[in-house]
Amino acid sequence: MSLQVRDLRWGHPQPGGGWRQLFDGFQLACPTGQFVVVIGSNGCGKSTLLNLIAGSLRAGGGSVQLDGRDLVGWPDYRRARVIGRVMQNPLDGTAPSLTIAENLRLAECRRSSVFGRRGLLGGLHPSRADRQRYRALLQELGLPLADRLDTAVGQLSGGQRQTISLVMATLGKPSLLLLDEHTAALDPRAEATVMELTERLVRRLGTTTLMVTHSLEQALRYGDRLVMLQDGLLIGDWSAAERQQFTPTSLRALYGSATVGAGSSTSP
Ligand SMILES: Nc1ncnc2c1ncn2[C@@H]1O[C@H](COP(=O)(O)OP(=O)(O)O)[C@@H](O)[C@H]1O
Ligand SMILES: [Mg+2]
Repeated sequence: MSLQVRDLRWGHPQPGGGWRQLFDGFQLACPTGQFVVVIGSNGCGKSTLLNLIAGSLRAGGGSVQLDGRDLVGWPDYRRARVIGRVMQNPLDGTAPSLTIAENLRLAECRRSSVFGRRGLLGGLHPSRADRQRYRALLQELGLPLADRLDTAVGQLSGGQRQTISLVMATLGKPSLLLLDEHTAALDPRAEATVMELTERLVRRLGTTTLMVTHSLEQALRYGDRLVMLQDGLLIGDWSAAERQQFTPTSLRALYGSATVGAGSSTSP
């Protein structure tokens, strides 16, 4: 589904007193299936933007729409049905004492209407049919974890946990996928594996995706569009073709500068 963020407002009290209005009429529009990479220096508002879109932070004004439906006011469990998320910490996305199959079942229940108001109908225990589906899915994605459905997720490496988090976040085809530096805690090899899976899942599902990354190499390699945030403002907006003008070094040099974008913040 398409994402429209309109006139978003959010601020926070500052440690020394006073108020900082970080987002003051922020706009972003992404057509269905667009894979947007979000970069910007520390504290510029990347995670806050994702939290406002996901509803884990309440906006002071404005709207977040998926295909024209306004999510503002939706409770968390309802947003979780349409939004998949993966966070930076591999410990955040999964339940360590549950097995891979149980985690996948949990994710599926969260996405469907049986979870939320009425609880987990049918329990957490994956049925034989569930297990067969999960194994087939993991095999199809080329993941050796397909043979470890009964392994507790707490026994997996960080990279393997992020792999499972990513599969969980995309189970049941969410309308929007939000990735917040989901490879930042991984070693280079695991990072490459998780990024390759990310790309494959996004393309296969056609899910509109916002991926925050600290890695300028990733920013120049993945996605259809690259946007740069600074102090709650979109200061750069490039298509995949336009970003070819950059190297990681020239891109980093733009951090801290004024508006540098070629495109406008509201056009796809
Ligand atoms: N819940 C909050 N309360 C107060 N300040 C916050 C809160 N969340 C984020 N901030 C502040 O908002 C700014 C943006 O933070 P964040 O979105 O986490 O940045 P980043 O771009 O590094 O992800 C920072 O200055 C941070 O201190
Ligand atoms: Mg952040």
